[in-house]
Amino acid sequence: MISKASAPGKVILFGEHFVVYGVKAILCAINKRVTVTAENIEDKIISIKSNIGDLELQPNKPISEIDSPLKPFYYLANKMIQNQNAGIKIIVKSEIPLGVGLGSSSACCVAGAAAISRLYSDTSKEKILEFAIEAEKTIFQNTSGADCTVCTYGGIMEFNKENGYTKIKSEPNFHLVIANSNIEHSTELVVNEVKSFKEKNEEEFSKLCDNETNLVEDVLELLKENNTKKLGEKINQNQKYLEAIGVSNEKIKEMIQIGMKSSFGAKITGAGGGGCIFALTDETNLNETINQFRNKSFECFSVKIDLKGLNTF
Ligand code: MEV
Repeated sequence: MISKASAPGKVILFGEHFVVYGVKAILCAINKRVTVTAENIEDKIISIKSNIGDLELQPNKPISEIDSPLKPFYYLANKMIQNQNAGIKIIVKSEIPLGVGLGSSSACCVAGAAAISRLYSDTSKEKILEFAIEAEKTIFQNTSGADCTVCTYGGIMEFNKENGYTKIKSEPNFHLVIANSNIEHSTELVVNEVKSFKEKNEEEFSKLCDNETNLVEDVLELLKENNTKKLGEKINQNQKYLEAIGVSNEKIKEMIQIGMKSSFGAKITGAGGGGCIFALTDETNLNETINQFRNKSFECFSVKIDLKGLNTF
């Protein structure tokens, strides 16, 4: 039997890092995907092939002994084939650059959980999300779960660690221009750095969490009005909060300046410390913004919101 699934990447529009400490974040899925094909095979092995390398192991290896970015797939396959006298072959194809804040690992976990679990049963989306977050925890223990949630359900949503997600009904007609610093980051490392910052600056961090909470509430209103210009101002404000907790750097600041020249606003997406930034545009300033980045030799492309989320075939 063969089972196939695809899941979109994501951009965190507002609230990364603060979401780990209970603040509401706003995320959207983007029209770049990971597709995973899973197949039962007779040999008792777990074989994973992807554009970032391959992994082939016997089942039942301790997860802590596996040093590979493909570990979440192994975890999922090993969990699902328990008591089956067979193996699994997994093929991963991704359009999302790795380790730059666009949700490639969450999309892998979601598409992987769907493709692998559906070899055995008609798993619900809720259960797939649960498996995906478990798998993501093999590479990043303290995940808020926000990224896997938006990769599963798609669209644009508010997310809070305690209460989960609520889809935002308006469908804003903006384009996001993504620019890549080409500095790979480890989400876990940057999240740990923010934890140290918080421990050393409890009062300042708590104030920033309050500011972010207020900003997100304002944004939820602006989204109803589809007010792209004002949303851009909020994006710039959010970037300042991210700079205050130390997740920006000189290259990112340079990219933000370029993005701000013609877009409505620009900020980091995801963990920061490298990775990508996005600039908010519409039809009037999309091309100009892309040209600004390309003129300075930054890799960039535009994305739109993906409304579908997880897709199974
Ligand atoms: C990473 O894409 C987003 C962070 O907020 C971590 C998380 O929410 O798990 C930095």
